[in-house]
Amino acid sequence: MINRYTVIGQPIAHSLSPVVHHLFGDLTQRKINYTRTEATPETFEQVVRDFQASGAKGCNVTAPFKELAVKVCDRVAPHALRAGSVNTIHMQRDGALVGHSTDGPGLVADIQTNHRLELQAKRILLLGAGGAARGVVEPLLATQPASFHIANRTASKAAALADMFGADGAITAGGYDELAGENAFDIIINATTPSADGGRPLVPDTVISEQSLAYDMTYSSRDTDFMQWSTALGASSCNGLGMLVEQAAESFFIWEGVRPKTRLVFPRLNEMLS
Ligand code: ATR
Repeated sequence: MINRYTVIGQPIAHSLSPVVHHLFGDLTQRKINYTRTEATPETFEQVVRDFQASGAKGCNVTAPFKELAVKVCDRVAPHALRAGSVNTIHMQRDGALVGHSTDGPGLVADIQTNHRLELQAKRILLLGAGGAARGVVEPLLATQPASFHIANRTASKAAALADMFGADGAITAGGYDELAGENAFDIIINATTPSADGGRPLVPDTVISEQSLAYDMTYSSRDTDFMQWSTALGASSCNGLGMLVEQAAESFFIWEGVRPKTRLVFPRLNEMLS
């Protein structure tokens, strides 16, 4: 039997998820079929229900439906409820739609395993305070960093996000200008939405040092402006490809009960992308 999955978003044509999941299927010797499905806010719930009714085992959810997916699921894992985001729906035999969020664990796995940067006792700066940022706060704090600061263009939103997770660990928050007095951070994670013409969050250069890792959660085939800026300052930088693969591996584990060895996927993926 072939287990069927899809990724639902708008737009969705360029999603790499089918490629990644088919590589996982090959590696784990599971027969899967994974497609892309476009929806609108009006059709999203029906698209999910129709896919479930067709006998499928699950789906991924991407922009702009991750928040809506929380409402559509019958049960939502506590970490996904706090993240306010569901990116993985498990379609269970009893008919229930169970929601999970694998973005945060995927980010942490990529940083710690692939980039070999232990987050414990490190100074973390998270840029942005929207849905993407909210989705990664809890797993980042769980690594017990030395400090965790959220900076956002609109400072009040950063403060509200810090309040939401204040019980999980010490979080500070503010606007971009207030970063001027800070020492450089070990890792700077860009969770802001890129504008159509690129651009980067206008934070002071002093947040970066040559020892920093600048992590752009966006996946792009070329270096983003954020990556170019941090590389010019001597830091290491990366985009969200590793996070994409690691969050997909978490989803695959939820559905198939087996965790693919992601390090075997990167060479093949890079070959296909180049
Ligand atoms: P997402 O779900 O992708 O996180 P969102 O919830 O709309 O989208 O949040 C967008 C984030 O990107 C916010 O942190 C936003 O900053 P504001 O809260 O100040 O709006 C940030 N953002 C969007 N465009 C930006 C820009 N040009 N410069 C800096 N930050 C930007």
